[in-house]
Amino acid sequence: MILSIESSCDDSAIAITEIATKKLLFHKKISQEIEHSVYGGVVPELAARLHAEALPKILEECEPYFKDLKAVAVTTTPGLAVTLIEGVTMAKAISISLDIPLIGVNHLIGHVYSLFIDKEAVFPLTVLLVSGGHTQVMEVNSLTDITTVAKSMDDSFGESFDKVAKMMGLGYPGGPLIQELAVGGDRKRYNFTIPLSQSPLLAFSYSGLKNAVRLAILDGEASDYKDIAASFEHIATQHLTQKLKKYFKTRQPKTFAIVGGASANLYLRSQIEALLQPHKAKLLLSELKYCSDNAAMIGRVAVEMYDKEMFSSLEDLDIAPRSQL
Ligand code: KG4
Ligand code: ZN
Repeated sequence: MILSIESSCDDSAIAITEIATKKLLFHKKISQEIEHSVYGGVVPELAARLHAEALPKILEECEPYFKDLKAVAVTTTPGLAVTLIEGVTMAKAISISLDIPLIGVNHLIGHVYSLFIDKEAVFPLTVLLVSGGHTQVMEVNSLTDITTVAKSMDDSFGESFDKVAKMMGLGYPGGPLIQELAVGGDRKRYNFTIPLSQSPLLAFSYSGLKNAVRLAILDGEASDYKDIAASFEHIATQHLTQKLKKYFKTRQPKTFAIVGGASANLYLRSQIEALLQPHKAKLLLSELKYCSDNAAMIGRVAVEMYDKEMFSSLEDLDIAPRSQL
Protein backbone atom coordinates (compact mmCIF):
# COMPACT_ATOMS: atom_id res chain seq x y z
CA MET A 1 0.00 0.00 0.00
CA ILE A 2 0.97 3.64 -0.47
CA LEU A 3 0.15 6.44 1.93
CA SER A 4 -0.34 9.78 0.12
CA ILE A 5 -0.50 13.31 1.51
CA GLU A 6 -2.02 16.45 -0.05
CA SER A 7 -1.46 19.93 1.42
CA SER A 8 -0.86 22.19 -1.59
CA CYS A 9 -3.57 24.70 -0.67
CA ASP A 10 -6.41 24.65 1.86
CA ASP A 11 -7.29 20.95 2.08
CA SER A 12 -5.44 18.58 4.41
CA ALA A 13 -5.86 15.05 3.10
CA ILE A 14 -4.34 11.59 3.44
CA ALA A 15 -5.17 8.45 1.46
CA ILE A 16 -4.12 4.80 1.46
CA THR A 17 -4.13 3.08 -1.94
CA GLU A 18 -3.49 -0.60 -2.65
CA ILE A 19 -0.72 -0.92 -5.24
CA ALA A 20 -1.77 -4.13 -6.99
CA THR A 21 -5.46 -3.28 -7.40
CA LYS A 22 -5.26 0.56 -7.41
CA LYS A 23 -8.12 0.45 -4.89
CA LEU A 24 -8.59 3.34 -2.53
CA LEU A 25 -8.69 1.84 0.97
CA PHE A 26 -8.83 4.99 3.09
CA HIS A 27 -9.33 8.67 2.41
CA LYS A 28 -9.89 11.55 4.77
CA LYS A 29 -9.87 15.25 4.05
CA ILE A 30 -10.22 18.20 6.40
CA SER A 31 -11.10 21.38 4.49
CA GLN A 32 -10.33 24.85 5.78
CA GLU A 33 -13.03 26.68 3.81
CA ILE A 34 -14.79 28.06 6.88
CA GLU A 35 -11.57 29.43 8.38
CA HIS A 36 -10.61 31.24 5.14
CA SER A 37 -14.14 32.34 4.26
CA VAL A 38 -14.00 35.54 6.35
CA TYR A 39 -10.97 36.67 4.32
CA GLY A 40 -12.56 35.90 0.92
CA GLY A 41 -9.58 33.75 -0.06
CA VAL A 42 -6.85 31.46 1.27
CA VAL A 43 -4.45 33.03 3.79
CA PRO A 44 -1.23 30.98 3.35
CA GLU A 45 0.13 31.27 6.92
CA LEU A 46 -3.24 30.35 8.42
CA ALA A 47 -3.51 27.43 5.98
CA ALA A 48 -0.08 26.14 7.02
CA ARG A 49 -0.99 26.29 10.71
CA LEU A 50 -4.24 24.40 10.09
CA HIS A 51 -2.39 21.70 8.10
CA ALA A 52 0.00 21.28 11.03
CA GLU A 53 -3.02 20.50 13.23
CA ALA A 54 -5.09 18.44 10.78
CA LEU A 55 -2.50 16.18 9.10
CA PRO A 56 -1.26 14.46 12.31
CA LYS A 57 -4.89 13.90 13.35
CA ILE A 58 -5.67 12.11 10.07
CA LEU A 59 -2.38 10.21 10.18
CA GLU A 60 -3.30 8.69 13.56
CA GLU A 61 -6.26 6.99 11.85
CA CYS A 62 -3.87 5.40 9.32
CA GLU A 63 -1.84 3.55 11.92
CA PRO A 64 -3.42 0.12 11.19
CA TYR A 65 -2.01 0.38 7.64
CA PHE A 66 1.57 1.30 8.64
CA LYS A 67 2.88 -2.28 8.55
CA ASP A 68 1.72 -2.72 4.94
CA LEU A 69 3.13 0.53 3.52
CA LYS A 70 5.62 0.18 0.67
CA ALA A 71 6.02 3.94 -0.05
CA VAL A 72 4.89 7.38 1.05
CA ALA A 73 3.80 9.93 -1.55
CA VAL A 74 3.26 13.66 -1.23
CA THR A 75 2.30 16.64 -3.39
CA THR A 76 5.49 18.63 -4.01
CA THR A 77 4.35 20.98 -6.81
CA PRO A 78 2.68 23.38 -7.57
CA GLY A 79 1.05 25.07 -4.58
CA LEU A 80 1.66 27.41 -1.68
CA ALA A 81 5.22 27.06 -0.36
CA VAL A 82 4.25 27.22 3.31
CA THR A 83 1.54 24.59 2.95
CA LEU A 84 3.41 22.19 0.62
CA ILE A 85 6.22 22.04 3.17
CA GLU A 86 3.81 20.73 5.84
CA GLY A 87 3.01 17.64 3.76
CA VAL A 88 6.60 17.15 2.59
CA THR A 89 7.95 17.31 6.15
CA MET A 90 5.43 14.71 7.30
CA ALA A 91 6.21 12.46 4.31
CA LYS A 92 9.93 12.60 5.07
CA ALA A 93 9.33 11.75 8.72
CA ILE A 94 7.22 8.73 7.70
CA SER A 95 9.85 7.66 5.15
CA ILE A 96 12.57 7.72 7.80
CA SER A 97 10.59 6.05 10.57
CA LEU A 98 9.11 3.25 8.42
CA ASP A 99 12.13 2.99 6.12
CA ILE A 100 10.09 3.22 2.92
CA PRO A 101 10.78 5.21 -0.28
CA LEU A 102 9.43 8.68 -1.04
CA ILE A 103 7.42 9.67 -4.11
CA GLY A 104 6.95 13.35 -5.05
CA VAL A 105 3.71 13.95 -6.98
CA ASN A 106 2.72 16.81 -9.27
CA HIS A 107 -0.69 18.11 -8.13
CA LEU A 108 -1.82 18.80 -11.72
CA ILE A 109 -1.13 15.20 -12.76
CA GLY A 110 -3.07 14.29 -9.62
CA HIS A 111 -6.12 16.12 -10.99
CA VAL A 112 -5.80 14.14 -14.26
CA TYR A 113 -5.73 10.85 -12.33
CA SER A 114 -8.77 11.91 -10.27
CA LEU A 115 -10.59 10.44 -13.29
CA PHE A 116 -9.19 6.99 -12.50
CA ILE A 117 -9.73 6.44 -8.76
CA ASP A 118 -10.30 2.69 -8.22
CA LYS A 119 -9.79 1.98 -11.92
CA GLU A 120 -7.29 1.60 -14.74
CA ALA A 121 -6.22 4.77 -16.55
CA VAL A 122 -7.23 5.06 -20.21
CA PHE A 123 -5.27 7.25 -22.63
CA PRO A 124 -4.98 9.21 -24.87
CA LEU A 125 -7.30 11.99 -23.77
CA THR A 126 -7.52 15.75 -23.83
CA VAL A 127 -8.06 17.26 -20.40
CA LEU A 128 -9.41 20.66 -19.42
CA LEU A 129 -8.15 21.44 -15.91
CA VAL A 130 -10.19 24.17 -14.21
CA SER A 131 -9.23 24.84 -10.61
CA GLY A 132 -8.45 27.73 -8.30
CA GLY A 133 -4.84 27.82 -9.44
CA HIS A 134 -5.03 26.65 -13.05
CA THR A 135 -6.96 26.80 -16.30
CA GLN A 136 -5.27 24.69 -18.93
CA VAL A 137 -5.81 22.18 -21.70
CA MET A 138 -3.50 19.16 -21.74
CA GLU A 139 -3.02 16.32 -24.17
CA VAL A 140 -2.29 13.27 -22.06
CA ASN A 141 -0.79 10.14 -23.62
CA SER A 142 0.62 8.60 -20.45
CA LEU A 143 1.91 9.49 -16.99
CA THR A 144 5.10 10.92 -18.47
CA ASP A 145 3.80 12.21 -21.82
CA ILE A 146 1.68 15.28 -21.10
CA THR A 147 1.64 18.40 -23.32
CA THR A 148 -0.06 21.62 -22.29
CA VAL A 149 -1.60 23.21 -25.39
CA ALA A 150 -3.40 26.17 -23.76
CA LYS A 151 -3.26 27.93 -20.42
CA SER A 152 -4.32 31.10 -18.67
CA MET A 153 -2.20 34.19 -19.05
CA ASP A 154 -3.43 35.57 -15.70
CA ASP A 155 -6.25 34.51 -13.34
CA SER A 156 -7.79 31.05 -13.46
CA PHE A 157 -11.44 30.13 -14.08
CA GLY A 158 -12.04 29.10 -10.44
CA GLU A 159 -10.16 32.09 -9.07
CA SER A 160 -12.39 34.46 -11.06
CA PHE A 161 -15.43 32.93 -9.33
CA ASP A 162 -13.67 33.39 -5.97
CA LYS A 163 -12.92 37.05 -6.72
CA VAL A 164 -16.44 37.84 -7.95
CA ALA A 165 -17.92 36.20 -4.84
CA LYS A 166 -15.55 38.23 -2.67
CA MET A 167 -16.59 41.47 -4.40
CA MET A 168 -20.23 40.58 -3.70
CA GLY A 169 -19.37 39.79 -0.08
CA LEU A 170 -20.52 36.17 -0.45
CA GLY A 171 -17.53 34.34 1.10
CA TYR A 172 -15.14 31.60 -0.07
CA PRO A 173 -14.91 29.42 -2.14
CA GLY A 174 -16.80 31.47 -4.68
CA GLY A 175 -17.51 28.77 -7.27
CA PRO A 176 -20.43 27.01 -5.57
CA LEU A 177 -21.77 30.34 -4.20
CA ILE A 178 -21.82 32.04 -7.62
CA GLN A 179 -23.25 28.91 -9.26
CA GLU A 180 -26.11 28.89 -6.76
CA LEU A 181 -26.77 32.63 -7.04
CA ALA A 182 -26.79 32.41 -10.84
CA VAL A 183 -29.68 29.92 -10.91
CA GLY A 184 -32.68 31.71 -12.39
CA GLY A 185 -30.60 34.82 -13.17
CA ASP A 186 -30.62 36.52 -16.58
CA ARG A 187 -27.47 35.32 -18.36
CA LYS A 188 -27.88 37.88 -21.15
CA ARG A 189 -28.55 41.01 -19.07
CA TYR A 190 -24.90 42.03 -18.71
CA ASN A 191 -23.12 41.94 -22.01
CA PHE A 192 -19.59 41.33 -20.70
CA THR A 193 -16.97 40.94 -23.43
CA ILE A 194 -15.73 37.39 -24.03
CA PRO A 195 -11.96 37.49 -23.30
CA LEU A 196 -9.54 37.06 -26.24
CA SER A 197 -12.41 36.39 -28.66
CA GLN A 198 -10.62 38.24 -31.48
CA SER A 199 -7.25 36.68 -30.67
CA PRO A 200 -5.97 33.67 -32.64
CA LEU A 201 -4.17 32.52 -29.47
CA LEU A 202 -5.19 29.27 -27.83
CA ALA A 203 -4.98 30.83 -24.36
CA PHE A 204 -7.21 32.01 -21.53
CA SER A 205 -7.51 35.25 -19.58
CA TYR A 206 -9.87 36.14 -16.76
CA SER A 207 -8.49 39.41 -15.36
CA GLY A 208 -10.38 41.64 -17.84
CA LEU A 209 -13.70 39.88 -17.21
CA LYS A 210 -13.13 40.14 -13.46
CA ASN A 211 -12.65 43.89 -13.80
CA ALA A 212 -15.77 44.30 -15.97
CA VAL A 213 -17.77 42.43 -13.31
CA ARG A 214 -16.24 44.63 -10.60
CA LEU A 215 -17.54 47.74 -12.40
CA ALA A 216 -21.01 46.18 -12.81
CA ILE A 217 -21.08 45.40 -9.07
CA LEU A 218 -20.03 48.96 -8.20
CA ASP A 219 -22.68 50.32 -10.54
CA GLY A 220 -25.47 48.02 -9.43
CA GLU A 221 -27.57 47.21 -6.37
CA ALA A 222 -27.59 43.96 -4.39
CA SER A 223 -30.77 43.10 -6.29
CA ASP A 224 -28.71 43.02 -9.52
CA TYR A 225 -26.22 40.45 -8.17
CA LYS A 226 -28.22 37.45 -9.38
CA ASP A 227 -28.13 38.66 -12.99
CA ILE A 228 -24.47 39.72 -12.66
CA ALA A 229 -23.58 36.23 -11.37
CA ALA A 230 -25.53 34.54 -14.18
CA SER A 231 -24.02 36.79 -16.89
CA PHE A 232 -20.52 36.33 -15.47
CA GLU A 233 -20.86 32.52 -15.30
CA HIS A 234 -22.15 32.56 -18.88
CA ILE A 235 -19.24 34.62 -20.28
CA ALA A 236 -16.57 32.83 -18.19
CA THR A 237 -17.85 29.55 -19.68
CA GLN A 238 -18.26 30.95 -23.21
CA HIS A 239 -14.59 31.90 -23.11
CA LEU A 240 -13.65 28.26 -22.47
CA THR A 241 -16.01 26.81 -25.09
CA GLN A 242 -14.97 29.36 -27.71
CA LYS A 243 -11.31 28.44 -27.33
CA LEU A 244 -12.10 24.73 -27.22
CA LYS A 245 -14.05 25.09 -30.47
CA LYS A 246 -10.87 26.46 -31.97
CA TYR A 247 -8.93 23.48 -30.56
CA PHE A 248 -11.42 21.01 -32.08
CA LYS A 249 -10.86 22.56 -35.53
CA THR A 250 -7.40 20.99 -35.68
CA ARG A 251 -7.67 18.07 -33.25
CA GLN A 252 -10.34 15.41 -32.84
CA PRO A 253 -9.78 13.68 -29.49
CA LYS A 254 -12.05 10.67 -28.94
CA THR A 255 -12.10 11.31 -25.20
CA PHE A 256 -12.28 14.67 -23.48
CA ALA A 257 -12.18 15.19 -19.70
CA ILE A 258 -12.83 18.09 -17.32
CA VAL A 259 -11.01 17.94 -13.97
CA GLY A 260 -10.26 20.24 -11.03
CA GLY A 261 -12.43 21.89 -8.39
CA ALA A 262 -14.32 24.03 -10.90
CA SER A 263 -15.21 20.99 -13.04
CA ALA A 264 -18.07 20.61 -10.55
CA ASN A 265 -19.73 23.61 -12.23
CA LEU A 266 -22.98 22.39 -13.77
CA TYR A 267 -23.33 25.14 -16.37
CA LEU A 268 -19.77 24.46 -17.58
CA ARG A 269 -20.47 20.72 -17.76
CA SER A 270 -23.64 21.27 -19.84
CA GLN A 271 -21.92 23.67 -22.24
CA ILE A 272 -18.96 21.34 -22.79
CA GLU A 273 -21.33 18.40 -23.34
CA ALA A 274 -23.07 20.40 -26.06
CA LEU A 275 -19.72 21.31 -27.62
CA LEU A 276 -18.57 17.68 -27.75
CA GLN A 277 -21.78 16.29 -29.28
CA PRO A 278 -21.07 17.04 -32.98
CA HIS A 279 -17.53 15.68 -32.55
CA LYS A 280 -18.83 12.45 -31.00
CA ALA A 281 -16.17 12.76 -28.31
CA LYS A 282 -16.79 10.98 -25.01
CA LEU A 283 -16.85 13.17 -21.87
CA LEU A 284 -15.03 11.91 -18.77
CA LEU A 285 -15.63 13.51 -15.37
CA SER A 286 -14.24 12.78 -11.93
CA GLU A 287 -16.63 11.76 -9.19
CA LEU A 288 -17.80 14.99 -7.53
CA LYS A 289 -15.91 14.19 -4.30
CA TYR A 290 -12.62 13.92 -6.24
CA CYS A 291 -13.01 17.13 -8.32
CA SER A 292 -11.62 19.38 -5.58
CA ASP A 293 -8.23 18.81 -3.98
CA ASN A 294 -7.82 15.40 -2.34
CA ALA A 295 -5.20 12.79 -1.49
CA ALA A 296 -6.89 9.93 -3.37
CA MET A 297 -5.76 11.41 -6.70
CA ILE A 298 -2.21 11.84 -5.36
CA GLY A 299 -2.17 8.19 -4.25
CA ARG A 300 -3.51 7.08 -7.64
CA VAL A 301 -0.59 8.82 -9.42
CA ALA A 302 1.82 7.42 -6.83
CA VAL A 303 0.81 3.84 -7.69
CA GLU A 304 1.85 4.48 -11.31
CA MET A 305 5.11 6.10 -10.15
CA TYR A 306 5.81 3.19 -7.79
CA ASP A 307 5.51 0.72 -10.67
CA LYS A 308 8.03 2.80 -12.62
CA GLU A 309 10.29 3.16 -9.53
CA MET A 310 10.07 6.95 -9.72
CA PHE A 311 11.35 7.49 -6.18
CA SER A 312 13.10 10.52 -4.65
CA SER A 313 15.77 10.52 -1.99
CA LEU A 314 15.32 12.46 1.25
CA GLU A 315 17.78 15.06 -0.04
CA ASP A 316 16.19 15.39 -3.48
CA LEU A 317 12.53 15.59 -2.50
CA ASP A 318 11.72 19.29 -2.31
CA ILE A 319 8.83 21.64 -2.91
CA ALA A 320 8.52 23.57 -6.19
CA PRO A 321 5.67 26.03 -5.54
CA ARG A 322 5.47 27.52 -9.03
CA SER A 323 6.32 24.75 -11.46
CA GLN A 324 4.27 24.42 -14.67
CA LEU A 325 3.18 21.43 -16.62
O1 KG4 B 1 -9.01 21.95 -7.55
P1 KG4 B 1 -9.33 22.84 -6.39
O2 KG4 B 1 -10.00 22.22 -5.18
O3 KG4 B 1 -8.08 23.60 -5.87
C1 KG4 B 1 -7.01 24.01 -6.70
O4 KG4 B 1 -6.18 23.14 -7.09
O5 KG4 B 1 -6.99 25.23 -7.00
O6 KG4 B 1 -10.27 24.00 -6.98
C2 KG4 B 1 -10.82 24.98 -6.16
C3 KG4 B 1 -11.48 26.02 -7.05
C4 KG4 B 1 -11.94 27.27 -6.31
O7 KG4 B 1 -11.52 28.41 -7.02
C5 KG4 B 1 -13.46 27.13 -6.33
O8 KG4 B 1 -14.16 28.37 -6.30
C6 KG4 B 1 -13.67 26.43 -7.65
O9 KG4 B 1 -12.64 25.46 -7.70
N1 KG4 B 1 -14.99 25.78 -7.73
C7 KG4 B 1 -15.95 26.14 -8.62
C8 KG4 B 1 -17.08 25.34 -8.32
N2 KG4 B 1 -16.77 24.52 -7.27
C9 KG4 B 1 -15.47 24.81 -6.92
N3 KG4 B 1 -15.94 27.07 -9.59
C10 KG4 B 1 -17.06 27.20 -10.32
N4 KG4 B 1 -18.20 26.50 -10.09
C11 KG4 B 1 -18.24 25.56 -9.11
N5 KG4 B 1 -19.37 24.86 -8.90
ZN1 ZN C 1 -6.11 21.37 -7.19
